[in-house]
Amino acid sequence: MKIGVIGAGNVGGALGKLWAEKGHEIMFGVPDPRGAKVQELVKSIGKHARAGSVKEAASFGEVVVFATPWPATQDAIKSSGDLSDKIVVDCTNPLAPDLSGLVIGTTNSAGEEVARWARGAKVVKAFNTIGAPNFGNPRFGSEAASMFICGDDASAKTVVSTLASELGFEVVDAGPLTASRLLEPLAMLWIHLAFKQGLGPTGHAFKLLRR
Ligand SMILES: NC(=O)c1ccc[n+]([C@@H]2O[C@H](COP(=O)([O-])OP(=O)(O)OC[C@H]3O[C@@H](n4cnc5c(N)ncnc54)[C@H](OP(=O)(O)O)[C@@H]3O)[C@@H](O)[C@H]2O)c1
Repeated sequence: MKIGVIGAGNVGGALGKLWAEKGHEIMFGVPDPRGAKVQELVKSIGKHARAGSVKEAASFGEVVVFATPWPATQDAIKSSGDLSDKIVVDCTNPLAPDLSGLVIGTTNSAGEEVARWARGAKVVKAFNTIGAPNFGNPRFGSEAASMFICGDDASAKTVVSTLASELGFEVVDAGPLTASRLLEPLAMLWIHLAFKQGLGPTGHAFKLLRR
């Protein structure tokens, strides 16, 4: 599948590399596609990856993944051009700059803002409730970490579920896109446990237990 990954940092870089290993075609979209950082990333991934402008990567992707810092996300979406009918994956968390909390919440969410900005796109919230260093290794003993997703388009959620399952996550559909109001605070709990409670960036993950 052709995947445009907007932002090539911790999240975008890890997802792009892992999906390329599964045979997907990746184009990273960054403000400076000739920059050393993204060029090194592309080189390390090999033939399934390339870099371009944000607009080029967005137009390349059947799926367009936003892995940008929250304050840059509206601009990144604007630079993407027409996203109507595309599957858009929103990985962002609307973090306060000092990680003290979220700048949007309870009655709104980053996921819903992304859907307003990316008019006509099928937005799925995903990959935001666990640190990027775990994307390549979501197994904790005999258990697979849960990947919570939400969105309003069933077919888009099926595609994103497959992309998360390919990495080894157990996907949990949390319902409509408004459930981003729950998934973004869940990310805050993950961050709090990792960096304030000493569990670290690869020591824990959320798992939904069922009967
Ligand atoms: N880090 C995690 O473990 C983690 C886990 C889940 C979710 N998240 C969320 O995922 C998002 C990305 O986090 P990250 O840690 O990957 O951030 P990061 O390492 O800082 O990477 C951000 C990327 O976005 C690019 N970027 C900045 N402004 C842009 C713009 N206007 N248009 C296009 N690209 C732009 C950056 O390019 P330059 O380098 O050129 O500035 C960089 O490649 C955040 O919203 C974060 O809250 C993070």
